[in-house]
Amino acid sequence: MSADRSPRTPARQDRAAQPAATIRVALGSRAYDVLIGPGLVASAADLIEARLGKGKCGIVTDANVAAGHLEPLEASLKTVGRHAGTEVLAPGEATKSFASLARLCERLLEMGLERGDLVIALGGGVVGDLAGFAASIVRRGIRFVQMPTSLLAQVDSSVGGKTGINTPQGKNLVGTFHQPSLVLADTDVLATLPPRQLRAGYVEAAKYGLIADAAYFGWLEQNASAVLAKDIAAVTHAIAIAVQGKADVVARDETETGDRMLLNLGHTFGHALEAWAGFSDRLLHGEAIAIGICLAFRLSEELGLIGNNSVARVETHFASIGLPTRIADIPGGPAPDAATLLEIMGQDKKVREGKLTLILVRGIGEAFIRRDVAPNAVLDFIARQAGR
Ligand SMILES: NC(=O)c1ccc[n+]([C@@H]2O[C@H](COP(=O)([O-])OP(=O)(O)OC[C@H]3O[C@@H](n4cnc5c(N)ncnc54)[C@H](O)[C@@H]3O)[C@@H](O)[C@H]2O)c1
Repeated sequence: MSADRSPRTPARQDRAAQPAATIRVALGSRAYDVLIGPGLVASAADLIEARLGKGKCGIVTDANVAAGHLEPLEASLKTVGRHAGTEVLAPGEATKSFASLARLCERLLEMGLERGDLVIALGGGVVGDLAGFAASIVRRGIRFVQMPTSLLAQVDSSVGGKTGINTPQGKNLVGTFHQPSLVLADTDVLATLPPRQLRAGYVEAAKYGLIADAAYFGWLEQNASAVLAKDIAAVTHAIAIAVQGKADVVARDETETGDRMLLNLGHTFGHALEAWAGFSDRLLHGEAIAIGICLAFRLSEELGLIGNNSVARVETHFASIGLPTRIADIPGGPAPDAATLLEIMGQDKKVREGKLTLILVRGIGEAFIRRDVAPNAVLDFIARQAGR
């Protein structure tokens, strides 16, 4: 073993701090960096200390991620005496619950984490949302580091500070805004991500192109197979562009009073489908968003907003990589009835004075916010779509 294990030598710092891309989320006193590249998990202690100083770290992860990636992170922290403890959660959307939140808060306190310490969320969007929520309320808020391990978390959920849990009333209806202090997106960890999860995460990357960056969507159409084959250059580019897009929006509208709502393209429909499917493996979050995006494009077409082949382009692209595009693509059982879906959509956080806020499109890369579509028109649209 010739590896240099001595802490914080200049040589070790240099090796640690070599991300392929760094993106700044410009939020004044709460600004932070998103580092993207290989090898970041094993260098985490140095990367964190260089930016956030010393302090104990409590790791939150799930059992799937722990199997492949916990050991190097713990080793990195233990080498410098900063490992406060590790909590391994059950994988899956059901973990984003009040019960898990309560348990996790108590575990973080048992680890002895104090105000100056850090929570590290090592996992996908579920771990990030739950650990971020716990970090935001334990001791009235302690700092946290996102170490996203799914493509979805690397391109989207680890950036922007939304935390939360699900309730029977719907998705992410209880939560906080709590920005991470650092995001370490290690592209190596995607090696163990199952293909279905990779495809689901890809949807959130494509979403950025569909909202505001037609050139990026065009690039994805050409490079999807390289991204899904985990070609390092393609994956890094896909993550960096999506994160830059999100960072720009979050810097303009941190708490979603305006522009940030655009990031919910496909989510009003998608969240309703996810809730209806019981937040289960039957329909992954990203898959629900794929169908939701296609519904938003089709509704835009029905309303006469899109005049070209945008709808077909989106559907063709998603279908070509094995993503669902229609409600009927959801496996296992009868289609949802339109009234149930509309009722769930009525719980959406974007509802204002009983009116749905829909994110619609004039074309690829041209999303906008619309509040005047009559609920009956949406009901009629969903009823027709549910049968297709
Ligand atoms: N906060 C936000 O801004 C935001 C944005 C988008 C989505 N989300 C939330 O994110 C969640 C979805 O995220 P997700 O798709 O990452 O789900 P997830 O966290 O459930 O991860 C998906 C699956 O992949 C496994 N996994 C993750 N990384 C792995 C790896 N490297 N190797 C092997 N297995 C791995 C997990 O254990 C899990 O089984 C939803 O709850 C959604 O609401 C939040």
